[in-house]
Formats: sequence, C-alpha cells, structure tokens
Amino acid sequence: MKRFENQVAIIVGGARGIGKAIAERLVHEGAQVSVFDVLKKDLAELTKQNTSITTHIVDITDEKNLQDKIQNVIKLYGRLDIMVNSAGIVGPTNTKIQEYLLEDFQKVLDINLNGAFNITKAVLPQMSKQGYGRILHVASIGGKEGNPGMAGYVASKAGLIGLIKGVGKEYANTGITVNGIAPAVIATEMNNNTEPETLKYMTAKIPMGRLGTVEEVAALVCWIVSAEATFNTGFIFDLSGGRATY
Ligand SMILES: NC(=O)c1ccc[n+]([C@@H]2O[C@H](COP(=O)([O-])OP(=O)(O)OC[C@H]3O[C@@H](n4cnc5c(N)ncnc54)[C@H](O)[C@@H]3O)[C@@H](O)[C@H]2O)c1
Repeated sequence: MKRFENQVAIIVGGARGIGKAIAERLVHEGAQVSVFDVLKKDLAELTKQNTSITTHIVDITDEKNLQDKIQNVIKLYGRLDIMVNSAGIVGPTNTKIQEYLLEDFQKVLDINLNGAFNITKAVLPQMSKQGYGRILHVASIGGKEGNPGMAGYVASKAGLIGLIKGVGKEYANTGITVNGIAPAVIATEMNNNTEPETLKYMTAKIPMGRLGTVEEVAALVCWIVSAEATFNTGFIFDLSGGRATY
C-alpha cells in the first residue's frame, strides 16, 4: 500500500528506536523521508541501509539549525507534509525529587519539551502555505499518569501533551493536524539505561504483560499522519497494552 506517495516527511529522533521504525514504514509506503538526529554514526548507517532516506545532524534544541535544515528539505523535495518528533531522553530514573538535580531537570525539559516547541513552530510556516500537514509528537503514558522517580521525564511529557492539545486547537481549521501518542514501555535502546526497578514497575502495570514493539508504534503513527486521519487533532492516542483505561 502506498499511502504516502508524493508526500515528504521529517522524522526528528529517527536515527534509532521508535523514530527509525516510523521512518522505515513511511518510506515503505512511498514517502520521501528526511531524518534529523544527533547520532552521526546511526544516521550514516541508516542511509546505508535505506538509500531513499536523507539525514541531517541536528539537535532539536537548536532552533536556528532546525530552521535551516527544514529549508534544505523543502528545497530538495519541494514540500513538507509530515513531521514526527520522536526525539527524547529519559534523564535520571529511580531518583526521588529530593535527589534530582535542577540541571538534569532542565536538560530533560530542554530536549523533550522546548525541542518539541521548536520543531512544531519551525514546520508550521510551510504546512500553512500548503494548507495541509500532519504533526505528531511521541509523548508517554508517564506524562498522563506520572511515574515515580523520573520527575523531569514525566513533567516534560505532561508539558508536551499540553502543547499538542493547545496547538492542535490553534490550527484546527487549517488542514494541519497536531496529535501525540502516549506509549507505555516499548522495547528500544532507550530502556537500557533505565534502572531495573523502574522498568519492572512500568512493565508490571501493563495488563498484556509485555513490552510494546516499535512496529506496533509505527503502525498507529502512520495512520495518524495519513491523509485519511481528517477528524483527529489535539489528541493523545494511547498505546499501552491495556494500561490506560480512561
Ligand atoms: N521506549 C519507550 O519505552 C518509550 C515509551 C514512551 C515514550 N517514549 C518516547 O519515544 C521517543 C523515542 O524513544 P525511543 O524509545 O525510540 O528511544 P531512543 O533513545 O532509541 O530514540 C530517541 C532518539 O532521539 C534522539 N535524540 C535525543 N536527543 C536529541 C536531540 N537533542 N536532538 C535530536 N535528536 C535527539 C536520539 O539520538 C535517538 O535517536 C522518546 O521521545 C521517548 O520519550 C519511549
């Protein structure tokens, strides 16, 4: 199925994990994809594996560089239909707020929340010109429910959920949708650094009793960013093996 033929997508944080799976599925279904990330080696590997993906080394916290690289993509492909932001870091885990350093808190917020603000703002001019766009951010169930021991992460994802809801409404009449997903634990490298105790807590809360897969995330995301998804904006889709029940 070529749902994304003649469409152009930017995937931020797509060098590995969830973002990479989304990039690969979009390409498989016909999109021209450009991946933005800070992992130089992984980006080089990605273009080697998939020659139709272009890559840019960009830090989502660098607003000016983001804008420049978006212009490069528009020059190359002529348009921009989809932006998926999967960039994120976990920061400290299993760390009570009394031991949680302000500088760690600020770093997590800078990437997960300020970065999301930067990229949303930067893609909207082109999408507005086109009268069409699909923006999707990867939030987290932690942003809805809270997980203990990771104050920066849960605060950043709760903030991101607010951003999506607000901006979704701002652009509701423009042909541009702004949505998010709130996954429970998904099996990726990100969890390698999570304290086993925190991971155990999060997995135990999933009624299906297993971690989600990146392919499951990509399947949902690709529907949300497709032209078919016309009546959904400012919404957070759950992907939690039964954990979220509201
Ligand atoms: N894996 C999970 O259990 C899980 C659950 C819920 C939400 N999420 C969210 O999904 C997203 C993807 O996570 P993942 O599991 O694929 O992790 P990952 O670590 O494999 O991928 C995150 C990507 O973001 C990139 N990135 C980090 N900082 C960046 C920056 N400053 N600028 C640009 N790129 C940057 C990384 O280099 C990496 O490629 C994250 O936002 C994460 O919070 C993950």
